[in-house]
Amino acid sequence: AAKMKDEDKLYKREGILYSSILSPPETMDKLTELQAREDDLILVAYPKCGFNWMVAVLRKIVNASTGKNEKPPERPPLVEFLPPDVQEELSEMPTPRLLGTHLHPDLMPASFFTKKAKILVVFRNPKDTLVSYFHFMNKNPVLPSAESWDKFFSDFMAGEVAWGSYFDHALAWEKRLDDPNVMIVTYEDLKQNLPEGVKKVSEFFNLPLTDEQIGSIAGESTFNAMLENSQKSHGNFGNIFFRKGEVGDWKNHFSDVQSKQMDEIFQAKLAGTKLGARLKY
Ligand code: A3P
Repeated sequence: AAKMKDEDKLYKREGILYSSILSPPETMDKLTELQAREDDLILVAYPKCGFNWMVAVLRKIVNASTGKNEKPPERPPLVEFLPPDVQEELSEMPTPRLLGTHLHPDLMPASFFTKKAKILVVFRNPKDTLVSYFHFMNKNPVLPSAESWDKFFSDFMAGEVAWGSYFDHALAWEKRLDDPNVMIVTYEDLKQNLPEGVKKVSEFFNLPLTDEQIGSIAGESTFNAMLENSQKSHGNFGNIFFRKGEVGDWKNHFSDVQSKQMDEIFQAKLAGTKLGARLKY
């Protein structure tokens, strides 16, 4: 992967960029066949909105609620990274399966919706998401390095980044906000009150916890606790996924002009939406 030239690391499929290494066309083709189960735990996030944080929280919730103590599986939590043969093995995986994705809802396996599986969506304000994505590009060997902050800023605004436009994802989820099988949590709310977030997520998936369990899961899932454990949980990728873990780091990166540009596109696309109101920065 490291030897691949930067310009070959992403390719376009139906107008959207994906990783050539992790999500090649045969993997994406096979995904349309993936059969969800009603009791799957589906976790969705646009890149850099807090996906890995919620994966850890969800695994802890499942373990605490079922009394199991399972190690994380060997496979990556994103279905669009699973080669076709590994996708097939999913049908033998015991319940409850945790299936993750960064895909736009219209491009997710259709059965995710038709089987009425519960879908937890994590969102984060777009300015901090962009900052996190910029650093991730430069640290992750499977993605091309950003040429510069200004170039990545305009690519993000135009949706010319892997998995497409933040705003398209937000608008698509806005339409599904009141779907009883969908729950949206925000990075900002989780930062503000993690025990409350753990409680809401466990109730949504019908995995009830005691107050004590909620407290200990929240304690083990702070940024610092997860950073300390990251060598064990993510190996050498630990320092790629756990960077700063704060709300408002955009203030250290955006110029005044860029901040205004983001405010304008945010206003144009998400003003008056319920999700927009929750993604204030
Ligand atoms: P920063 O780059 O702003 O630090 P994803 O998992 O979707 O790729 O998101 C990565 C972002 O979530 C990174 O943001 C990372 O630091 C942050 N993150 C990971 N674990 C976290 C935690 N326990 N608490 C808060 N933020 C966390």
